Amino acid sequence: MYVDPPFNTGETQRDRAGEFEDRWSGMSEYIGWLRERLSATLPALRRSANVLLHVDWRTSHHVRLLLDELVGPDRFINHLVWSYGLGGSTPRRFARKHDDILFYCVDPERYWFEAPMVPATSQRMKGMMKKATDVLNIPSINNMSFERVGWPTQKPLALLELLVRACCPPGGTVLDPCCGSGTTLAAALRTGRRGVGFDVSTEAIGVARRRLATIRDGRGRSRNPSSPTPL
Ligand SMILES: C[S@@+](CC[C@H](N)C(=O)[O-])C[C@H]1O[C@@H](n2cnc3c(N)ncnc32)[C@H](O)[C@@H]1O
Repeated sequence: MYVDPPFNTGETQRDRAGEFEDRWSGMSEYIGWLRERLSATLPALRRSANVLLHVDWRTSHHVRLLLDELVGPDRFINHLVWSYGLGGSTPRRFARKHDDILFYCVDPERYWFEAPMVPATSQRMKGMMKKATDVLNIPSINNMSFERVGWPTQKPLALLELLVRACCPPGGTVLDPCCGSGTTLAAALRTGRRGVGFDVSTEAIGVARRRLATIRDGRGRSRNPSSPTPL
């Protein structure tokens, strides 16, 4: 299960394909909202399943404690840093350029994991591949990106494909209960997994359905970034 919930920004998130409310009266209301939904969803997972919660600096410290409580501190595997690079800077602090993905398993004896291989950066291993670390350097989607479908806070397919390949076996099922434009489901489909998605927004479900249909009929399989095909 991969969850990319609203981040508690206090704003309405808008883009051309739709919008969603990301507003709670405070941290305890937000965590209560998440607690209720995770408590209802976690029992549906298999013993071999993994749980990935995608959040940011606003809530990651609270969500880590919530997952310790609901899943168990002994089930914690990684605090992944998605370093995305794009965006502005400020003279008042270090620019915030990463999200946090909290990775837990359901059963430490049974969880499935296959370390992704990424290009090595050291001079010694130049041209070789190495196992990915817990810092994932993947650019966020820019305005001109071929995969952009116009859903607010859409995540890049490259990030989701890496996570899906690493945390779900081929032929397995990925659940995304806040699926938005369906990036996780698209990644599942493109990597030979099954995807199950929910979203409170009917607009989001429409966007995700169209995106998946594009992939199913073959137009979304291109890995060529110069292709104008929406994914
Ligand atoms: C951060 S966005 C997900 C973006 C998605 N990962 C993508 O790449 O397009 C959060 C999503 O959670 C949805 N959402 C908000 N409240 C929800 C709820 N109670 N149940 C399910 N989805 C919800 C929003 O409609 C929004 O699409």
